[in-house]
Amino acid sequence: MRRDPLIALRPWESPEVTSWGRMPMNAVDRRNDALSLDGSWHFQMVPAPGASSGEWTRIEVPGAWTMQDVGDLPQYTNFRMPWGEFPPTSPTANPTGVYERSVDIPAEWAGRRIVLQVGAAESVLLVHVNGHPVGISKDSHLAAEFDLSDVVRPGGSATLRLTVIKWSDASHIEDQDQWWHAGITRSVLLYTTDALHLGDVTVRARRDGRLRVDCQVRNASGALPEGWYVTGALEGHQLLAQDTEFDRLNAEDMRVSDFLGEARLRTTVRDVRPWTAETPELYELTVRLHRADGSVADTSHHRVGFRDVEIRGRDLLVNGERVFIRGVNRHDFHPLTGRTVTAEDMRADLVVMKRFGFNAIRTAHYPNDPALLDLADELGFYVVDEANIESHDHAHEIADDPRYLAAFVDRVSRMVLRDKNHPSVIIWSLGNESDYGANHDAAAGWVRRHDPSRPLQYEGAAKLDWSDETVASDIVCPMYAPIEDCVAHALSGKQTKPLIQCEYSHAMGNSNGTLADHWAAIESTPGLQGGFIWEFWDHGILQRVNDGRPAGRAGVGLYDNGVAAPGHRWAYGGDFGETIHDGAFIADGVVFPDRTPKPAMYEHREIAAPVRLTYAQGVLLVHNRQHFRTLEWLTAEWHLVRADGGTESTPAELPDVLPCESAAVHVPFPLPESPEGEAWLTLRVTTAGDEAWAPRGTEVCLPQVRLGAGTTAAPVPVAGPPAEVDEEGLLVHPILAAPPVLSLWRAPTDNDEIGGMAARWRDWGLDALVRKVVDVRREGAGVTVVAEYATGGGTVRHEQLITPVAGGLRIEESAELPDTLDDVARVGTVFETVGGLDVLEWYGQGPWESYPDRSAGAPVGHHSLAVDELFTPYLRPQESGGRHGVRRFALSAPDATGLTVELGAPSQVSATRHRAEDLAAAAHHDELVPRPGCVVHLDAAHRGLGTASCGPDTSSQYLIAPGIHRWTWTLRVP
Ligand code: GAL
Ligand code: MG
Repeated sequence: MRRDPLIALRPWESPEVTSWGRMPMNAVDRRNDALSLDGSWHFQMVPAPGASSGEWTRIEVPGAWTMQDVGDLPQYTNFRMPWGEFPPTSPTANPTGVYERSVDIPAEWAGRRIVLQVGAAESVLLVHVNGHPVGISKDSHLAAEFDLSDVVRPGGSATLRLTVIKWSDASHIEDQDQWWHAGITRSVLLYTTDALHLGDVTVRARRDGRLRVDCQVRNASGALPEGWYVTGALEGHQLLAQDTEFDRLNAEDMRVSDFLGEARLRTTVRDVRPWTAETPELYELTVRLHRADGSVADTSHHRVGFRDVEIRGRDLLVNGERVFIRGVNRHDFHPLTGRTVTAEDMRADLVVMKRFGFNAIRTAHYPNDPALLDLADELGFYVVDEANIESHDHAHEIADDPRYLAAFVDRVSRMVLRDKNHPSVIIWSLGNESDYGANHDAAAGWVRRHDPSRPLQYEGAAKLDWSDETVASDIVCPMYAPIEDCVAHALSGKQTKPLIQCEYSHAMGNSNGTLADHWAAIESTPGLQGGFIWEFWDHGILQRVNDGRPAGRAGVGLYDNGVAAPGHRWAYGGDFGETIHDGAFIADGVVFPDRTPKPAMYEHREIAAPVRLTYAQGVLLVHNRQHFRTLEWLTAEWHLVRADGGTESTPAELPDVLPCESAAVHVPFPLPESPEGEAWLTLRVTTAGDEAWAPRGTEVCLPQVRLGAGTTAAPVPVAGPPAEVDEEGLLVHPILAAPPVLSLWRAPTDNDEIGGMAARWRDWGLDALVRKVVDVRREGAGVTVVAEYATGGGTVRHEQLITPVAGGLRIEESAELPDTLDDVARVGTVFETVGGLDVLEWYGQGPWESYPDRSAGAPVGHHSLAVDELFTPYLRPQESGGRHGVRRFALSAPDATGLTVELGAPSQVSATRHRAEDLAAAAHHDELVPRPGCVVHLDAAHRGLGTASCGPDTSSQYLIAPGIHRWTWTLRVP
């Protein structure tokens, strides 16, 4: 058999070989007039490049093969490589997919240039057409184009063979924290152009209306013909003029050489509507390349946004404004297809982001599908476009390894060439977690020369010394920096660059504690400008439980509200039988794998709200928190929430207030007179008309202020039936299935586990407290019960004084924590009710889940939810469903029987179907068996959530101090 030269070259172990036969990247979008080759292809999986199995099957393109049941499953590792080979080598067992199909080349393409585009292939692509070697490409997240004009015959049929090699030298620089997949993950297409064509188009549009379009003209069949010219039209009418000075500098016809022509068009648009993320104004531009006789040889369409981005001092300015960057990191992810995402999927992602107040995206950690940037332009996002370079496991070796130099420059430059015309892209990123070396400087040098119009960032360059101005980063973009460090830097007098965290507030499980504290610091400290939450997605793959396979496309509809359908679960690391994996660390997003927002999203929505309220000394102010818009696009309603049960509402007139300004408005209700009259004023803000991302009437935010403080009168003891306790001093009550006892533990969150708190709690034995009653004293109708709990950190003394009061029992409790127990999960009471109490009504913060350090987005109100809806199905079961600041609640059955609890002080409360130990014992949500009754926790103190799974723990003010804790509650059964 003839030796295949592409195999003989062994490109999978040659980092110097970044491509062969591949055409230069450009920004002319050919997707619309192309022949799609998506669909079913013949497919063969072979154990190594060059091998053959002879067994053909079918596969869907685009689609990772790891999601299509062909014998190679997804594997999750964070930063460690899934195998031990050192760069640039990879394992000899190297799954290789051979894709084949025939394609009829239209007869009318005769004499034209014919180009194959492979949207993305992971990690090495070899192209053969009709048995001829055509090309090689690397970079799993950028398209590769090959000129097939000489190897296919119009009117005939061609056989395309795309060989995709899973592991390679390139895997070492694609070591991102995500699932390892393989295959062709984006669309494949063929397109045709005239031999005379637009090689590239570069658009620069400024906020003042200046527009410049640089065109490269090439001819595939030899020297450029005489007399060609280029025209441009904006929105169909405004014609762009040739730049005469530019013409003079170049020969007539703007021909630079026999093979390269250049044309520069320009115009100034009067009264231009500038592009910003708040006002994503786009103009259609059509560029035409003409032959001497005026006929059109090629056309290119662009959507232009007029905007400026610059760094002045330590501020990043968009159109002259220091905008806040309310960002989120986004991977291309789908629970059924892995990395293959459609434009509709991406639109849905961006719609959710918009509805929850995000205005920026970092394309972690590679150029996303090109449609993402079209959508970002259209819906309005600031984008940090990141190159596909992460050498995490071998970062230090690779950053200076000259064998990888070409790959670094190739990946960064091709991204810039593809994406340079998008107004949404305001910053280039050299990649992620790859240390810092000469290879980065080389890539940075290329970008700075090629596109001086945008800043450049790279976390690895800026991190050693935030004040170092010489490194390859115009922005200090740390990850998970503590709030105090950021503030200290901004106040140090040494800050020279904007500080925008490329990752912060790790959203793994029940997390994002202290988000509001971050933003309080950012908004009050010049020099701090925001950051990107890690991350958007929980990357759970929908998996069939019976055979452990990815459900794949057959899983459509087999999930709802964040939960996989029966017989299915969200797989994380290890669930596909991988021995090397990093577990649930892959599930760290603000949305579940089906894009259902986690409660943390509501916290973000409120922090990012365009409208805010303040109320002080009788003055009610409405603040416009936007940078570019008035409040005209919003409509609102006032709600007055009174402690005594009522909520009144009235339409609100939003004041005409300029961006970043405030206006005083009248309090729309009479103010409460007595101190008992705790009252809250909420402004429910919705969209006034249809937005591209939200139909009219979509809730945008719920800012709230407190109008009057309240006091709760202590219930008066009455003579009545004495409280009944058993010989252990445990309360006996018909509504309770398990009596109220002390609880100091919660089912560890991911932050608790990874941050090490859970291990200490287990060492102290808090997960299995053993209660010893030491005293039961009756005084009148009341009873005092003293119990002791022996822990690894000393004895905890717990007292309950149970007194009959009108309609029920008052329970006054205290717990004394020895000094060693200086960081427990909670101090409070847990009990279980009888079955059938399915609805919780409460007065307190809500309606969504909230915790002490994540409660800025949950307004006080009268809320009501089914108990099953209170629970948040975090992928790895953990503490869930809490509600902060609860003053009273009722749990009731459909026949109105049930219980009410009045709390002595606003408390953290949860009512779920699971004991903490049930949650802690389960690895997946589908393993949980709901209990018939409700497990109710009322906590005098509850530890903040923090973000310790990656980054800082919660601040000390949200920790629970040792010493005496007291709380009181009143239980009634109406
Ligand atoms: C960062 C990294 C991300 C992800 C995150 C933790 O260090 O850039 O890719 O690993 O931590 O989830
Ligand atoms: Mg990493």
